[in-house]
Amino acid sequence: MSRLPAPADLPTVADTFGRPLRSLRLSVTDRCNLRCNYCMPEEEYTWLPRETLLTFEEMDALTSLFTELGVDKVRLTGGEPLLRKDLPVLVGMLAKNARIKDLALTTNGILLAEHAQALFDAGLHRVTVSLDTLNPDRFKALTRRETHGRVLQGIEAVARTGFTGLKLDTVAIRGFNDDELADLIEYGKRIGAEVRFIEYMDVGGATDWSMEKVLSRTAILHALGQKYGSIEAVVEESSAPAQRFLLPDGTTFGIIPSTTMPFCAACDRSRLTADGMWYLCLYAKQGFDLRQPLRDGVPLEEIASLIRSVWQARKDRGAEERKALERFGTRENLIEIEKLRLDPHLEMHARGG
Ligand code: GTP
Ligand code: 5AD
Ligand code: SF4
Repeated sequence: MSRLPAPADLPTVADTFGRPLRSLRLSVTDRCNLRCNYCMPEEEYTWLPRETLLTFEEMDALTSLFTELGVDKVRLTGGEPLLRKDLPVLVGMLAKNARIKDLALTTNGILLAEHAQALFDAGLHRVTVSLDTLNPDRFKALTRRETHGRVLQGIEAVARTGFTGLKLDTVAIRGFNDDELADLIEYGKRIGAEVRFIEYMDVGGATDWSMEKVLSRTAILHALGQKYGSIEAVVEESSAPAQRFLLPDGTTFGIIPSTTMPFCAACDRSRLTADGMWYLCLYAKQGFDLRQPLRDGVPLEEIASLIRSVWQARKDRGAEERKALERFGTRENLIEIEKLRLDPHLEMHARGG
């Protein structure tokens, strides 16, 4: 298990496997302006009621409780986070929190060209954009929208704005984009971004998932090896899900092998949904309501001790448990569609990609 040290002046809050509480993924909205087949394949969705959504002040207050307990990485996610009005205002509030060493955003890029400068000026450190294909027709088939050009404009705007550490995330799907892996790497090289291939995961909401569609880490490395020659693994200590690799010309890329090689052992992340439900795992079926105590005026120290004790009891290793089902031939969809309709929190788009 690879583990990072906690900031020197903070106590480490560790779970039952010794995994520290270090990374918070803050979903700011469950809405999205795409309908990616691997995430939102259905026609109809149940949305979180608007009155339950946390205000920016509430998000900032809860984030501060987490950072006092050791969190130093915060990532804003969605749905599509740029659909949340005035997102740079929240970024500005979080950027004042000196405990946050890494403040990042995961976005589908459609609204980025408009907002990149304001996000940079507000103090955002890094941006990761989802880019699954370079082909506009494929994009339309995947997302049911025709906004591919805007995504590319968004990515290029980030590259111009002065952000460093731009990443492009590609969900690698057999029969969809397996012939584009090298083209995506070349595109990343041109604009100065690191490309990461993510194995298609059987998370909540992925009702179209099947093992046959998963392009595994092994298959990705094989395909890229044929094109580029020898590929070396980059040796580094990190709790990030991506394994990084080096091509002969010095270009690096990542693979996030959540499906075939889960990284639960080093997982220091948890997720807060836009309505303040806290989830300890991407695959968790139950969350902890932090909105209610906050709105009821429960003292912040008490909410902090709740967070601490919940984390200390954490046993989640969802991706490993999914993988274990393969032995019994029972790895199918995680959650039935009827249950997803009843509880939108079970959806990947509600708890952040
Ligand atoms: P950095 O390495 O710090 O840039 O962050 P990251 O790798 O967490 O970035 P990002 O949000 O882009 O996550 C990349 C992808 O990894 C997500 O879109 C998911 O597909 C997958 N992923 C993120 N979090 C988890 C998690 O908790 N468990 C699993 N199994 N997969 C995750
Ligand atoms: N498998 C893998 N990644 C997924 N994402 C959403 N659904 C899935 C899935 N089923 C991730 C993608 C996307 C991010 C927002 O969420 O990485 O880029
Ligand atoms: Fe961690 Fe859960 Fe993600 Fe596994 S699935 S890496 S346990 S958060």
